[in-house]
Amino acid sequence: MKTTEEKLAKSLTAESTELIPHLPYLLQDLWEMGSSPKDMLELVRKHIHVSMKTKVLDLECGKGAVSVYLAKELGRRVKGIDLIPEFIDVALEKAEEFGVGEWCEFVVGDITEAVKTEKDYDLVILGAVGDVLGNADETIRLINNTVKKDGYILIDDAYAKEKANANYLTREQWLEIFNNTGVRLVDEKIIEEDELASINNDQQEQIVKRARELKEKLPVSMWPMVSRRTSTC
Ligand SMILES: C[S@@+](CC[C@H](N)C(=O)[O-])C[C@H]1O[C@@H](n2cnc3c(N)ncnc32)[C@H](O)[C@@H]1O
Repeated sequence: MKTTEEKLAKSLTAESTELIPHLPYLLQDLWEMGSSPKDMLELVRKHIHVSMKTKVLDLECGKGAVSVYLAKELGRRVKGIDLIPEFIDVALEKAEEFGVGEWCEFVVGDITEAVKTEKDYDLVILGAVGDVLGNADETIRLINNTVKKDGYILIDDAYAKEKANANYLTREQWLEIFNNTGVRLVDEKIIEEDELASINNDQQEQIVKRARELKEKLPVSMWPMVSRRTSTC
């Protein structure tokens, strides 16, 4: 069974837990680290009736790109939880910068613990969270405890095209899991591979630049670790 650190490293496609202390440096130029805030907002606007009482939870919120955007556009309360304190610091700063400090609550925390206590949300966001909560079935069951009856879960993940592989399930498998866990698929927005590749390339360029700087600062014995990260993310 993977440790929390191993899952954390994997959630940011780092091959080794030794890289965790360096992730804030390597990822310093990226605010959005997974999901597109605009796509998330589009789906929320299309399906969810937002009222003064609407409560949103962003699990593994990273630097708060989705939370801050939703709080700003919807004028509603959002709580974000992430394990990396430096990411939460950025989220807090961004919330102030965008004038939504009072709508956003960002806390450092482990979502495997948070799902036991966070309850009654109208919307729970799982943006590129990987397998931190277990496999897809286990993840949905845990999230079901945090969402109100008739609430919504917004998931950003990938389908395997034809056959499931070690990382991704097929669309049919996801639908079966939704069926088994009492969840109904309301809508989906597919991002084309070209668009995704272009976003990945842009982000990769920024990370490679920071990795080169980091290599200058680290002892030679740690260089292979940085090279591995920059070649796979
Ligand atoms: C790919 S990023 C996605 C960030 C954000 N959802 C977004 O779309 O911009 C994955 C995030 O999961 C966080 N993470 C990994 N394991 C976690 C855990 N057990 N509890 C809380 N956050 C965790 C990482 O720190 C990282 O910020």
